Amino acid sequence: MSKRRIGILTAGGDSPGLNAAIRGFGKTAINMHGMELVGFLHGITGLVNNNTVDLTNDTLAGILTQGGTILGTSRDKVHKFPVDGKLVDMREQIAKNLEKDKIEALVMIGGGGTAKNAKRLADAGIPVIHLPKTIDNDVAQTDTSFGFSTAMGIATEAIDRLHSTAHSHHRIIVVELMGHRAGWLTLGAGIAGGADIILIPEIPYSIDSVAASIRRRAASGRPFSVVAIAEGAHDVAVAKRLRNADELIKLANSPDSKAAAKENRRRIETNERDSSFRVADALEAATGLEARVTVLGYVQRGGIPDAGDRLLGTLLGGAGADLLAEKKYGITVASQNGHAVPVPLAKVAGYDKLVPLNHPWVKAARNVGTGLGD
Ligand code: F6P
Repeated sequence: MSKRRIGILTAGGDSPGLNAAIRGFGKTAINMHGMELVGFLHGITGLVNNNTVDLTNDTLAGILTQGGTILGTSRDKVHKFPVDGKLVDMREQIAKNLEKDKIEALVMIGGGGTAKNAKRLADAGIPVIHLPKTIDNDVAQTDTSFGFSTAMGIATEAIDRLHSTAHSHHRIIVVELMGHRAGWLTLGAGIAGGADIILIPEIPYSIDSVAASIRRRAASGRPFSVVAIAEGAHDVAVAKRLRNADELIKLANSPDSKAAAKENRRRIETNERDSSFRVADALEAATGLEARVTVLGYVQRGGIPDAGDRLLGTLLGGAGADLLAEKKYGITVASQNGHAVPVPLAKVAGYDKLVPLNHPWVKAARNVGTGLGD
């Protein structure tokens, strides 16, 4: 009997732990289930162009500790793929590529965007499973995604270092963290690094309130502050406009009006948000303390995965291979209470996991006197 051939790819922004998951899946699939593994290069792009590499025990050896992804990645979409200046639906092409190479199922490792692409392929009849990675930790139905733990560690160390320079110069340092529309990374690293103020998308801030916290600290003998701000955080006025824009998206009743409503939201989100530099200027003006900005950027995503992400990638990857061996398709392999749990893609794709206002981390931050800008 010929071996079952499985395709695997990584998509979306890279994150630490991707190689651990490729290895965890691959070694389990090859050694425990006798499968053959084919990697698609550069995410959806490789799937469309049938750009593949055979993955064996040899190619999977030594990658556990490597950052990035040995397969490469991209942010392309299966239903809107750029061809000659147009966006084309490539699902039929993808199905043909898989059939031609006798690949019976596909493993897609990525975040929320990849879950949506996986569901699009599953709806088109392609057997697919999704493994959740992202430093943002915003994939629905999973307690954590690999990449988050490492990024939180890197950001925590950065905040530690910013503390001593803020303290020495009696400055405000505004440090911007990634996270897309979720505040997990900023809240987690902010608490662990002892940021004095933490601003996240889920809790709209007021500059007046942030400035008042900083002035109170100065009056009590601490004329310096570290303000950790998530890239998706907004002040109350912009947050209100975004909520209204979200309503308009929900109410849109045609594809054109939906696209226009989404574009409106994107415009508010990108053009009208306070940049960290504007926040720093406003705080300098309101407190009389000098302010500086550090944008952590891609350093949060790069480099070797920590123990937590190696472990999670290995666990979810291996469980994914076991589920695939049982022909369980159309699922995300989620991490729930320490276990790998299959969850239908329909419950994951299109949903965000944001920080609930009653989350223990929010309470913990308030307990130690950290300002949340509200
Ligand atoms: O989703 C991971 C992430 O790093 C986000 O935190 C950030 O908003 C985004 O990717 C950056 O995307 P890109 O790599 O396309 O610049």
